Amino acid sequence: MKVLVIGGGGREHAVVKKLSESPKIEKIYCTPGNAGISQIAQCVNIKATDIEGIINFVKTNPMDMVVVTPDDPLALGLVDRLNEMDVPAFGPVAKAAEIESSKAFSKTLMKKYSIPTGDFEIFDNAEKALEYVKDKKYPLVIKASGLALGKGVIIVENHQEAVDTISQMMLNDMFGASGRTVIIEEFLEGPEVTVLAFTDGKTIKTMPSSQDHKRALDNDKGLNTGGMGAFSPSLYYSNEIEDYCVKNIFYPTINAMKKEERNFKGVIYFQMMLTKNGPKVIEYNARFGDPETQALMPLLKTDLYDIFNAIIDENLDKIDIVWENKASATVVLASGGYPKEYTKGYPITGIEEIIQNGITVYHMGTSVKDGDIVTNGGRVLALTTTADTVEEAVTKVYNNINRIHFKDMHYRKDIGRK
Ligand code: AMP
Ligand code: GLY
Repeated sequence: MKVLVIGGGGREHAVVKKLSESPKIEKIYCTPGNAGISQIAQCVNIKATDIEGIINFVKTNPMDMVVVTPDDPLALGLVDRLNEMDVPAFGPVAKAAEIESSKAFSKTLMKKYSIPTGDFEIFDNAEKALEYVKDKKYPLVIKASGLALGKGVIIVENHQEAVDTISQMMLNDMFGASGRTVIIEEFLEGPEVTVLAFTDGKTIKTMPSSQDHKRALDNDKGLNTGGMGAFSPSLYYSNEIEDYCVKNIFYPTINAMKKEERNFKGVIYFQMMLTKNGPKVIEYNARFGDPETQALMPLLKTDLYDIFNAIIDENLDKIDIVWENKASATVVLASGGYPKEYTKGYPITGIEEIIQNGITVYHMGTSVKDGDIVTNGGRVLALTTTADTVEEAVTKVYNNINRIHFKDMHYRKDIGRK
């Protein structure tokens, strides 16, 4: 079988690597891929957002499956286009992906179907938003409704910060069109947990729980990033909480989507806050998380190609998904300056050496220049290992991290250590 994977980050490297273990797949293509992916798949230089480019590639190179993992091509309707061509495609159609690409939509859905989430109001008029924050309790959370590279959530501590943030988002286009509609939300407290799940729209099969680290610096300081590290499982996510979430959050969500004629097929990502009043949804993503996927894929024992097929064919209830009963940890190595400005093109050394020492290296932002692997993005590499406990896995990654070098390399030193 021939499979095309869309995207070129660490998440895609983890998915491509797992797919490459399937005996059913002869060849994997990846658009655009990266230096690490090019070692196990044929990379084709088409951007993930170039929908016409991808469609033309699939017309001339027939595929048995196309796997769409990044948010943008999902929101742009790539899966819809592939469905029209009868090409088996993994990922939600655009109407279903709106659960991530429009927070206004997802919050309204949760309210309508009584899915637990923080109290909120939606505004597309800045004056009304400014009026609303006048007599509120702080902190308060202000969110751009649309996609903003994981950076569209601002927690404000007082009225002045709320005024500044609303003005920046709604009047000064801080996040472009994504921020012209904002959600103003109650500040929730408690441990955060992420659960990713496979779903065919009828059945949900969860992956082990995980936790991301969104801020750039140790102790959750600094700017929000796409994610600086992850581990699995979360210590807070007990069987009792899982049962509650399956009954009150996971199934109600996919059932609601079906009722709204937005049947969700793919991976759905539940980010939740375990508050003292029970788990509440912070947000949904319509796809695998990055870097959570790098922490989860090494634990998956079932053939990922079979899982994707079961989802596409709506047979997920018929397949047993087996996970290794272990913990894992992922630490992201970033370019100095990320998530603000940073320089690309620095040579990276030590990758082979760290692999020999039992660390899996997923490339996030890398490319090949004159035969050398060089940095090519804000997040550069994800280092992952599994062990009996999160602590052991984390320690093993940190004990090996100094084998990798590139200029101005930055990483958090507290992943999984809270
Ligand atoms: P998001 O981009 O939705 O994942 O949000 C980024 C981060 O903001 C989350 O990981 C939370 O830590 C925080 N956050 C989002 N919504 C809330 C909320 N209602 N209360 C407290 N923190 C929040
Ligand atoms: N790690 C968060 C995300 O993928 O959105």
